[in-house]
Amino acid sequence: MNAELPADLPVAWQFATITDMDRSGVPDAARWLADDERATWASLRATYRREWTAGRILAKQLILQHQGLSPSDARAINITSRDSHGRGIRPRVAIHGDVIPCSLSISHADGAVLAAFTTAGGVSVGVDVVRRQPFAPAFSRRWFTELEQESVTASEDHDLEICRVWAMKEAVYKAACQDEPFAPRLTEIRNVPNGHRCAYRGLDLADRCRIRIWLIDNHVCSVAVVNDTTARVQLRPAPARRTTRTRCLTNEFVPESGTAAYTTTDYLRGDKP
Ligand SMILES: CC(C)(COP(=O)(O)OP(=O)(O)OC[C@H]1O[C@@H](n2cnc3c(N)ncnc32)[C@H](O)[C@@H]1OP(=O)(O)O)[C@@H](O)C(=O)NCCC(=O)NCCS
Repeated sequence: MNAELPADLPVAWQFATITDMDRSGVPDAARWLADDERATWASLRATYRREWTAGRILAKQLILQHQGLSPSDARAINITSRDSHGRGIRPRVAIHGDVIPCSLSISHADGAVLAAFTTAGGVSVGVDVVRRQPFAPAFSRRWFTELEQESVTASEDHDLEICRVWAMKEAVYKAACQDEPFAPRLTEIRNVPNGHRCAYRGLDLADRCRIRIWLIDNHVCSVAVVNDTTARVQLRPAPARRTTRTRCLTNEFVPESGTAAYTTTDYLRGDKP
């Protein structure tokens, strides 16, 4: 595991366990959430609210610090990460109603949250956190490319390598996507001597995408930073797929429209989009 933290990237990031946040008394939703966010909060399943709120608070702590605001401004920050159909989109940040030019990414998984934020021009950030856990042998065959499966086979700890590859895939997706659905096999992670390279939907991002991966508190964390002035504009996303599935798919949110996105839980359970 590469223990190097992403201090060399032009992003601020923060990781916390939800237990630690609870202990510090931070997750007081009323104090942190904007009105729109409280409406979203109310639509979530009760069991998911704590995790979702922790992600919002962690992100807002980064934004407050970066923008030189005080904690009392937290409710003036509104983070939108769903479109009108309830599908996950790249988070947008508005402060006192004005959308600010920035890139924010949030991930929550099994008791931990990770967020990264930047206002650097042309930079898009994506993060993912995955709890270290065992995987069924079929998992990598189903969701990984041939090259990624080879990296799992060659590794000393297969489960850890699966966590690492998965975390990097999602981080790259969140940084590089233009709101097309997450398709795990269309993001490929390659091991290179000094780190990792990736291809997104057939486009080799080469040194336009920098990836860092590290382990904290039994969670694998990944940050991907894409220079989107040179990369995202060239991406050609696959056409949006329509589906009629209506069960809870997008981060515990039940979309009224019946359009669907898939969460890590769906993939881990083996549901095929
Ligand atoms: C990206 C995705 C796989 C992550 O699921 P997950 O691993 O279960 O959850 P994580 O905690 O790691 O990440 C969730 C966060 O990713 C962010 N996110 C969701 N969709 C995103 C997207 N398209 N691009 C960038 N970030 C996205 C959100 O901030 C979300 O957290 P929030 O709801 O608290 O704001 C899932 O959210 C997804 O499939 N999103 C795409 C949905 C879609 O098809 N959108 C197309 C809209 S046209």
